[in-house]
Amino acid sequence: MVTVKLPLSMLLLFLLLNIFQCSAEILYIPVTKEASTLQHIIEVGQRTPLVPIKLLVHLGGRSLWVDCTNSSSYKSSTYKSAVCNSTQCFMSKSHGCGNCKFRSQLQPGCNNNTCYIWGENPLINTYIDHAEVAEDVLTIGSTPGVRVTWPRFIFTCLIDPDMVRLLANGVTGTAGFGHESLISIPNQLALDPRFTRTFGMCLSSSTRSRGVIFIGSGPYNVYKPKKVDIPKDIVYTKLITNKRGFLLSDEYYFQISSIRVAGQDVPLNKTLLSINNKEHGTGGTKISTAMPFTILHTTYYDVVKTAFIKALPKNVTLVEPPPMSQFGDCFSSENIKNSNVGPDVPVIDIVLYKPSAFWRIYGANSVVQVTKDVMCLAFVRQDQRWNPTIVIGAHQLEENLLVFDLPRKKIGFGSSLKLQQASCSMYDNTIMS
Ligand SMILES: *[C@@H]1O[C@H](CO)[C@@H](O)[C@H](O)[C@H]1NC(C)=O
Ligand SMILES: *[C@@H]1O[C@H](CO)[C@@H](O)[C@H](O)[C@H]1NC(C)=O
Ligand SMILES: *[C@@H]1O[C@H](CO)[C@@H](O)[C@H](O)[C@H]1NC(C)=O
Ligand SMILES: *[C@@H]1O[C@H](CO)[C@@H](O)[C@H](O)[C@H]1NC(C)=O
Ligand SMILES: *[C@@H]1O[C@H](CO)[C@@H](O)[C@H](O)[C@H]1NC(C)=O
Repeated sequence: MVTVKLPLSMLLLFLLLNIFQCSAEILYIPVTKEASTLQHIIEVGQRTPLVPIKLLVHLGGRSLWVDCTNSSSYKSSTYKSAVCNSTQCFMSKSHGCGNCKFRSQLQPGCNNNTCYIWGENPLINTYIDHAEVAEDVLTIGSTPGVRVTWPRFIFTCLIDPDMVRLLANGVTGTAGFGHESLISIPNQLALDPRFTRTFGMCLSSSTRSRGVIFIGSGPYNVYKPKKVDIPKDIVYTKLITNKRGFLLSDEYYFQISSIRVAGQDVPLNKTLLSINNKEHGTGGTKISTAMPFTILHTTYYDVVKTAFIKALPKNVTLVEPPPMSQFGDCFSSENIKNSNVGPDVPVIDIVLYKPSAFWRIYGANSVVQVTKDVMCLAFVRQDQRWNPTIVIGAHQLEENLLVFDLPRKKIGFGSSLKLQQASCSMYDNTIMS
């Protein structure tokens, strides 16, 4: 009897613990789409006294970094740079330690006996090796009824004016949601037992209503006005770590097996679908919230475009892309009907590990209206020889829920919320202050 009772009670304990874990809370971080750059931006409070700081959402970023170039603009009585060999330095996997070399006077971003890591600007693919590790007060997002403040949030402070290049006006840093770095936002927030290392991301397509990042395992709900449980139709695939040098291991890569346009596979050079470890981790597919539109390797773009145009209704005429446009292929929208998932154009399926596991891109995410009667294929053709073959950008992600399950190393793709007449802005706004 005893041998039966013991495991049973342990099972019960396990179940109880599990229930406790499932009822963990969700932290809601509102995300704004900035109109002129199309960047997705969050606002946090930092420092003492608290000031609002705008940050670019950088999914594959290893830390939250802020610009500290101007010595008089970072004012805080609670800023503390990380002393060499401290826990903070180990957590951030710093590669170096030393004294301030770049300024004549010490300031945030340039202190003595302090460790540093690499800082990155994903918009210009630029890295610097002396991002000072530091901690300060941070408020980020909110949970129903609770304001969450981190008294000692680890971030990095950069003193290089180049690093803010191309950031939208008023944005002074990036919010890194990387999966490897222990100081990335999801990994650091999960040190609070109320949250887990899983997060959902639902970017808004509108510059007037905010999308959201949900920190925690869910359920992630939207309302219209009744609750729509969005994770139901999510397709999961493996999250791959690309050990491309040490700089890019926080990026979110996944394997695709083919691309279908209007239900037909397009002929792709399959070699480029996988990460090429012999060529320093080039190739493969990653997600970047910093890129406004998906970038395709030239040969991929060409076959997708050809299949897409072929599948358009015959009475749709091709037109020249507008001058200065980043798009290569445009058409008259006159004969394009509308549907609940945007312009009624051929669907594009990103096929994952088997033909029935795919993420479908509808018109709202595959084309963009550039003038009153011209629409363009919303993909960018680029020589990706030294880069990922495919970089999934924000336009393709908008109004789709993505789930990043870091403990189980999985990425989940939900289909367009427009199918349910819902949107990423319809999360529970009542909890926001
Ligand atoms: C530095 O920041 C201060 C305070 O925010 C501001 O008054 C000053 O103009 C800034 N200087 C430069 C060079 O940007
Ligand atoms: C930090 O640790 C390294 C080796 O672990 C040691 O060589 C170095 O002297 C330490 N630095 C300080 C400031 O304690
Ligand atoms: C910081 O280190 C430099 C040498 O690298 C030294 O000249 C300076 O006095 C130090 N500052 C402080 C406040 O310790
Ligand atoms: C596919 O791409 C690889 C890598 O760029 C290249 O070496 C190979 O020749 C390509 N294959 C075909 C059939 O074009
Ligand atoms: C254009 O073609 C589509 C499908 O082929 C058809 O449904 C639509 O009525 C046509 N529009 C016009 C204006 O002819």
